[in-house]
Amino acid sequence: MTASRKEIKVGILGATGTVGQRFIELLSTHPYFKIHALGASSRSAGKRYAEVTKWKLATTIPKDVAEMVIQECKPDAPGFAECGVVFSGLDHDVAGEIEVAFRAAELVVFSNAKNYRRDPIVPLMVPLVNPHHLPVVRHQQSLLGLKKGYLVTNANCSTTGLVVPLAALEKAFGPIKTVLVTTLQAISGAGYPGVSSLDILDNVVPHIGGEEEKIEWETAKILGDVLPDSTGYEYHAHTPMTISATTTRVPVIDGHTASVSVQFVRSPAPSVEQVKQALRDFTCEAQTLGVPSAPAQAIVLHEAPDRPQPRLDRDLHNGACVSVGRVRECPVLDIKFICLVDNVRLGAATSSVMNAEIAVEKGYIA
Ligand SMILES: NC(=O)c1ccc[n+]([C@@H]2O[C@H](COP(=O)([O-])OP(=O)(O)OC[C@H]3O[C@@H](n4cnc5c(N)ncnc54)[C@H](OP(=O)(O)O)[C@@H]3O)[C@@H](O)[C@H]2O)c1
Repeated sequence: MTASRKEIKVGILGATGTVGQRFIELLSTHPYFKIHALGASSRSAGKRYAEVTKWKLATTIPKDVAEMVIQECKPDAPGFAECGVVFSGLDHDVAGEIEVAFRAAELVVFSNAKNYRRDPIVPLMVPLVNPHHLPVVRHQQSLLGLKKGYLVTNANCSTTGLVVPLAALEKAFGPIKTVLVTTLQAISGAGYPGVSSLDILDNVVPHIGGEEEKIEWETAKILGDVLPDSTGYEYHAHTPMTISATTTRVPVIDGHTASVSVQFVRSPAPSVEQVKQALRDFTCEAQTLGVPSAPAQAIVLHEAPDRPQPRLDRDLHNGACVSVGRVRECPVLDIKFICLVDNVRLGAATSSVMNAEIAVEKGYIA
């Protein structure tokens, strides 16, 4: 089905940044999204992409993108009006006004910024977990008087790595009651230039501003339901889930690791073997729909006692899956495990691209 789709022109806001570069890498070989317009700050606007971008990926800048001229992030800047989708990797301090301006101009925006994640009419969508939240965009359009434009956000990068295994466990065993999670987050999660080398080398920084709260409330929205009339969300509808998060920054370049303990509502809790099987068996709608960026396996279960590791496992399935390992009994709650997500791919750009592919497949993008 994908092979026969006609080309859809796309724009990238924040194209020069950490997430923006992953968008370029993913979209430059995409089967039907075609990079058409690039936006960044006024410092970069008017200049060639290769001239102003501090490219940090191991691949080279795709040739046609290198020569593109960066525009200001304004919907009437050259190129954006023709785009069927606009991906945003903008900093949160500027994303707020820019993203709604693009939406008001009838553009479909997929954002990585935190600004509208709590908005009751904006889907907070992790493509491997809750594509069923997408219909709320019709309510968003009707409230705002829009025909084509809408806004969808993806989750915080560490939330994304957590909710995929939690969704798999809830699918197999019913609601989870309690989650304790401690993250070990990569430096690239703070963008470029990010944390200073003198702060992070030989060190662990035990605080990332606002991150713990994001994990705690975002998880409840993502694992919640859509109201029956698709006008909003019911946060973790079946039962209140208590989540306690501790977030730390560690000297890893890409890949957020988390140590997780969960307690199920059901008693007795599932065994370690049952949990492992449920993680192995997990399949999701992105895979059933067959969208191009869906990983063959949403969760890779590791049996080796020293895996997953960021350096060895973040590239699995092109960074589009979550790795889980060390599944074992928890003497305090029920089960504990380690999970790993590529924070810039599934944690950011890949999620936006997959969300847009799902929207195309379900007829939400003309
Ligand atoms: N890094 C991650 O792992 C990750 C994961 C999930 C979500 N996110 C979110 O994704 C967003 C981008 O993060 P990042 O890490 O890619 O940040 P980044 O590396 O700092 O890049 C920021 C981008 O925003 C542009 N920008 C800055 N000020 C602007 C302005 N006034 N007008 C227009 N564009 C402006 C920059 O353009 P110039 O080059 O011209 O300054 C650059 O392209 C953030 O909201 C972040 O929270 C990041």
